[in-house]
Amino acid sequence: MRYIGNKTRLLGDIEAFAEDMGATGRSVLDVFAGTAAVARRFKERGYRVYSNDNMMYSYVLQKAYVEPTRVPAFLGLRKVRGVGKFLKSRSGSSRIDGVVEYLNREVQQVEGIVFRQFTPGGLSGRQFFTPENGRRIDGILESLRVWRRRKVLRQAEYFVLLASLIEAADRVANISGVYGAYLKHWDVSAKKPLALRSPEISTRGRGHRAYREDANRLVRRIKADVLYVDPPYNRRQYAANYHVLEVLAEAADVKDLDAYEARLYGKTGLKPYDEQRSEYCLRQRGEDSRLSRCEIAFRDLIRSSRCRHIIVSYNEEGILSLETIARALSEELGNPAFDFDRQFREIRYRRFRSDAHRGPGRSYRVLEGRRRDEIHEWLFYARRHGTGSR
Ligand SMILES: C[S@@+](CC[C@H](N)C(=O)[O-])C[C@H]1O[C@@H](n2cnc3c(N)ncnc32)[C@H](O)[C@@H]1O
Repeated sequence: MRYIGNKTRLLGDIEAFAEDMGATGRSVLDVFAGTAAVARRFKERGYRVYSNDNMMYSYVLQKAYVEPTRVPAFLGLRKVRGVGKFLKSRSGSSRIDGVVEYLNREVQQVEGIVFRQFTPGGLSGRQFFTPENGRRIDGILESLRVWRRRKVLRQAEYFVLLASLIEAADRVANISGVYGAYLKHWDVSAKKPLALRSPEISTRGRGHRAYREDANRLVRRIKADVLYVDPPYNRRQYAANYHVLEVLAEAADVKDLDAYEARLYGKTGLKPYDEQRSEYCLRQRGEDSRLSRCEIAFRDLIRSSRCRHIIVSYNEEGILSLETIARALSEELGNPAFDFDRQFREIRYRRFRSDAHRGPGRSYRVLEGRRRDEIHEWLFYARRHGTGSR
């Protein structure tokens, strides 16, 4: 998925770093899970995974990919008119394929919240999806809503299908990477018809759990062997840049959809997000403090966490400097000065560009000795002494 800070391409590096640092064990808490890429990798590696994010779309992805320990069977849908034949003579994971095929081929198009709010078919004229794709998304959301109401879909099955819809919608969204703006012309990928794909669900392990909470609150409760910390690193609030996905994640489960829709506002159809505003995106100083609000939150998280091993990912262009993070880690854990030779690694990779489609037009400051678009991700390791683990 296109997502600021998505670690899919860095998974091997993160894993190797954790192993080299001896940051292993039986359980891990990925407290800023986003796309759930890191949480899924730890699940694959046999860990018990606790994952968390304060955005609903992330929670949906975690519920679909992190929590399940059984392949969803969709037994309740066998008797639903039109769907049954897509499930007949299918077993195991191919049953998901049957439901996905049904949703792609048979669902009636509907002019609902997505059509009205995020396509030029609606009064606002917002151009996030073609009207055709907007109707398809609404049609699928409506099916999910009805199936849930009729109790023919288990909770895990609901999340698997919703995750598939969110990922499919993101592939045809007419944006340059984030939903903070839509493109004025139609991008090639946006003109393609929406097509769900069958999610690949790993059933490894047991006891995994997804959360949708404030990270600083959750770390006080959950004890795991490894804490993986990948906070937002710049001022772009996720709630303002992925609000369209948030609406998709919530719409099928909202009781009063009219009231919900009436609250969307502004040029891009934002959802009020005061409660989801992240301290980690705030550079300004905290009240009565010489520290930024971001640093205050980061220090609090480290201090309050209950995990023995801590791995922090951070982008070199972020609000916090290298030294600030290192100092915070050693001070808050009561450790000697941070040892950059032993506890730190820098990974080179290509920049996530939300305007990549525009070609080389926009320029970034190219640091000496760097390729254009090269950017570094920092990995820090710290250990909390005297913590038991389970
Ligand atoms: C850098 S991204 C994580 C990316 C993720 N590791 C991945 O590979 O996709 C940071 C995430 O933190 C979430 N977030 C921001 N502030 C938060 C908070 N206070 N509590 C929980 N999650 C938060 C954002 O919604 C976002 O998904």
